[in-house]
Amino acid sequence: MNDPKKLAGRFPGDFLFGVATASFQIEGATKEDGRKPSIWDAFSNMPGRVYGRQNGDVACDHYHRWEQDLDLIKDMGVSAYRFSIAWPRIIPDGTGRINEQGLDFYDKLIDGLKDRGIKAYATLYHWDLPLTLMGEGGWTARSTAYAFQRYAKVVMSRLGDRLDAVATFNEPWCSVWLSHLYGIHAPGEKNMDAALHALHYTNLAHGLGIDAIRQVAPNVPAGLVLNAHSVVAGSDSKADKAAAERAFQFNNGVFFGPVFKGEYPDNFMKALGGRMPPIEDGDLEVISQKLDWWGLNYYTPMRVAHNPAKGAEFPAVVDAPPVSTVKTDIGWEVYAPALGSLVKDLYDRYDLPDCYITENGACYNMGLENGEVDDQPRLDYYAEHLGVVADLISDGVPMKGYFAWSLMDNFEWAEGYKMRFGLVYVDYDTQERILKKSGKWYQTLAGEFPKGNHASS
Ligand code: FCB
Repeated sequence: MNDPKKLAGRFPGDFLFGVATASFQIEGATKEDGRKPSIWDAFSNMPGRVYGRQNGDVACDHYHRWEQDLDLIKDMGVSAYRFSIAWPRIIPDGTGRINEQGLDFYDKLIDGLKDRGIKAYATLYHWDLPLTLMGEGGWTARSTAYAFQRYAKVVMSRLGDRLDAVATFNEPWCSVWLSHLYGIHAPGEKNMDAALHALHYTNLAHGLGIDAIRQVAPNVPAGLVLNAHSVVAGSDSKADKAAAERAFQFNNGVFFGPVFKGEYPDNFMKALGGRMPPIEDGDLEVISQKLDWWGLNYYTPMRVAHNPAKGAEFPAVVDAPPVSTVKTDIGWEVYAPALGSLVKDLYDRYDLPDCYITENGACYNMGLENGEVDDQPRLDYYAEHLGVVADLISDGVPMKGYFAWSLMDNFEWAEGYKMRFGLVYVDYDTQERILKKSGKWYQTLAGEFPKGNHASS
């Protein structure tokens, strides 16, 4: 169903429609007002890491154009904006001196949102770790978790009075496995021992961050954003099904388990627990404090088969072929049913609070033609996935909101500026922003909310 008004009719009146971004991907101004480098500055300046050796120095120049960007969000008719705060602007060395100018930027940004009647959903960590902390080992060091706790406290003391919600981390799967085991994201490590340390210390930092938020801003709903993987077995064979369960625990269970059950998965601990850093008394209690909400970022399913290779390391799986032939320009399979089955599976396995889809969207790189961007496949992707979210609501799952990734084209990490996810097209030469066809469609949909029948204030 692609008619945005009809689709809108399938959502409750107080359902939240928003758009999302992240600091490093849009801000630029990496050397301004006291900001120091993050691990992503170092990583992207190293040849061979990011497509075309591109970096975040300018990005969408949002640091200078934020007012215009907030006007754009307002014009799009959405009621919420999900953005992230750059730790290296706030505490440039990760520990030590606080940089008031960094806080000033987000202070203005949040006031700008309030002035425009847009809700502010902040993420404290969307991957831009202050580079100085690498001197201690970055996320592989326990001290980084405590540095994060202090950073969370500093941010929430200054900004917490105006935030509508806060998340500690965005996608720890990426900052743990993709960054420390697969080497694709900063700091580019490829080492299971490092990754296992990053895993526990990230989980710990989340828990300590929740502590900090509750101490200084107890009224702000606190959550965590996870890119849970919809793991699908490549066949019905016993071996592939067992492989899928192992992959579930490795990709999801190591985050959901500690946070929502207070324990790491058994099969994972049997295989790799001996290489984890010491889990100290009280760690799992801190990590498993009750959350007010959680965010799901979903793009594509993960299909796996058993890896028969001798000595294959847990979870011992290989990729299985896609089922759908439809792929986005970044090569990700389009398969909306996996979103529905994933959410249901997660609610069956864990005691989860309210859910927001904090990211969902598609990469299509078509450009401007006669002043317009005709990105029909992106529009179709949104319509199909939102249809699944509406089905989940009808089935009684507490889905409260949806943030499109992304407001605008931006720095897509290791893929640089080549891969475009925006509802708004960015001309990087002129920094002009142009609403795409999908953006106009989303505007019509979002414009229907809140409907006022049971709208929250
Ligand atoms: C997610 C990230 C986000 C963006 C999208 C495409 O993994 O959270 O920053 O890059 O993918």
